[in-house]
Amino acid sequence: MTPLDPLKLPVHLAVIMDGNGRWAQQRMLKRIIGHQRGAETVKMVVEQASLLGIKYLTLFAFSTENWSRPTLEVRALMTLLKKYIHQETARMMRKNIRYNVIGNRCELPDDVNETLDEAICKTANNTGMVLTLALSYGGRQELCRAAARLAQDAVAGKISTSDITTGLFDSYLDTGGLPDPDFLIRTSGEMRISNFLLWQLAYTELYFTDTNWPDFTINELHKALADFQSRERRFGMTGDQITQRGDLSNA
Ligand code: FPP
Repeated sequence: MTPLDPLKLPVHLAVIMDGNGRWAQQRMLKRIIGHQRGAETVKMVVEQASLLGIKYLTLFAFSTENWSRPTLEVRALMTLLKKYIHQETARMMRKNIRYNVIGNRCELPDDVNETLDEAICKTANNTGMVLTLALSYGGRQELCRAAARLAQDAVAGKISTSDITTGLFDSYLDTGGLPDPDFLIRTSGEMRISNFLLWQLAYTELYFTDTNWPDFTINELHKALADFQSRERRFGMTGDQITQRGDLSNA
């Protein structure tokens, strides 16, 4: 396995888990079997990320646009999510992992919301990794929700236009309180963001692999993280400035 520097891991890892459907179709299986196998990969990545000491893991589990899929697939995905969250809560407790959800929860079925509430409540005092599931999530929709809440507070006189900074806007997002992702992995060969964390990905390092999500392994995760560790993040500065900063912070 690719050796990793524990001091240079992403604080926040985000993943677009893509290719479940194609994985199944290539094997003449129903798409839901691909999602079921995908849920096994979720278990592995959650466990590995937590073991490695990654503080925040955010998974794109169901997009706003996914509601347009065939009803049977949507239903099966909701059932799978519910089952996963229910079954995995005990492991989350053992691993000290805290559940969090972003997205428009009003659109989720009541039973899924109940299961989520239970899991969030039970894991609320865990101090290890924060596992955020993006459910019924769309980046543009999140930005609209944030803008609407901000406008409400402005109308109510709680804030004025001069208060509006990137930091304040950030606090109105579903992800308020979470740091921006340092690293985004997308599986299945598609090279796009697909309405995921549009604001938060401004300076995120992106990584694309052709592997479909059900085939994504520990080795691939380590390879991706090693790739992250080889990158120079400049945040709009020059390479020399970054080197100098590194020298100063090591002094
Ligand atoms: C994309 O593959 C994946 C999804 C829309 C759902 C992701 C769900 C899981 C990984 C399983 C359950 C999740 C959790 C958190 C337990 P796709 O169906 O778009 O694949 P395709 O592009 O090949 O059709």
